[in-house]
Amino acid sequence: METVVSGIRPTGNLHLGNYFGAVKSFLQMQYEYNCYFFIADWHSLTTHPHPDNIRNSVKTILAEYLACGIDPEKATIYIQSDVREVAELYLYLNMNAGIGELMRTTSFKDKARKQLHIDAADSDGDMEKEIFNEGNKHSVSAGLLTYPTLMAADIIIHKAVKVPVGKDQEQNMEMARRFARRFNSTFGVEFFPEPASFYYSNKAVKVPGLDGSGKMGKSEGNAIYLIDDEKTIKKKVMKAVTDAGPTEPNSVKPEPIANLFTMMDIVSTKDTYDFFNEKYNNCEIRYGDMKKQLAEDINNFCAPIRERILDIRANDEYMTKVARMGAEKASESAAKTLREVREIIGFRG
Ligand code: ADP
Ligand code: TRP
Repeated sequence: METVVSGIRPTGNLHLGNYFGAVKSFLQMQYEYNCYFFIADWHSLTTHPHPDNIRNSVKTILAEYLACGIDPEKATIYIQSDVREVAELYLYLNMNAGIGELMRTTSFKDKARKQLHIDAADSDGDMEKEIFNEGNKHSVSAGLLTYPTLMAADIIIHKAVKVPVGKDQEQNMEMARRFARRFNSTFGVEFFPEPASFYYSNKAVKVPGLDGSGKMGKSEGNAIYLIDDEKTIKKKVMKAVTDAGPTEPNSVKPEPIANLFTMMDIVSTKDTYDFFNEKYNNCEIRYGDMKKQLAEDINNFCAPIRERILDIRANDEYMTKVARMGAEKASESAAKTLREVREIIGFRG
């Protein structure tokens, strides 16, 4: 059976983007592959270096993974920091990772600009100047720079070949493949397979935000969470950006409207989608009605998950058991890889 690895950082509740971009694939894959799904708590330190209550944040994701339907008897669910071998592999990979290639990744550049409190539009040269500026009171951490090597370690430690992630992770995946290849070529072995991004439905999913443009995300401040109650969902959906409506039949949809339809395509039935699409094409669309329907469909989707989240969160013993079981299984696989890695490099295995 092929091995699959994926993880999500415990930086908040899961939202519809996480669900349809990643978790939905986890659910389908768990029956067909040897799956490892983890909670990337070390990774969360790259952007949240002084976590408020990291155990609590980890439990949030754990409960939500389980409530979505990841089955701990089928897939191995674990917490990244429970598997210390990941940190050792990260160290080895960092020895052969170039700071230039790491600095050129877009997610590093975006996040570094934020950490330096400089304008997103500032050039790469300006950003570098700020990084080297001794007088700057803000700095960029080495942890942020080496985010992709830690992610590569997560994946190749179980020799995974498929990684279900959203479209935004493509560059990190490219780096993971590069670091796997580099290990093999540096030591003249065919040890790590190259992991590929995997989209269950064969196309990368991007769940849009409803605030006009771009994706739904925690840091975008536009997320609809699986845990949101009916009222909150309705409020968020009714606020979605729309326009005065089309004046010509079959007009191209501007981005905010296209996003509303994309969301409906994801959570509503085909009939519902077709109904409103036709209304749009006939210039008879009433966005208020469409949003009301969308809010209802999102709530119908989230309600059972929300109930399960609350049940599972109240059962600490169960969560501890799942995490312990996962840690054992993941550590066994990781320890085996690390024994071989140490021998390949020349250390005691
Ligand atoms: P966020 O962007 O909200 O901080 P994460 O970076 O923790 O979310 O993402 C966890 C997983 O969810 C990743 O696989 C990512 O690709 C996926 N994901 C996040 N937001 C979206 C989205 N809007 N559409 C599709 N997938 C997404
Ligand atoms: N970088 C991923 C994200 O932001 C989280 C992650 C860390 C991950 N390690 C991973 C995803 C390994 C897949 C495989 O969502």
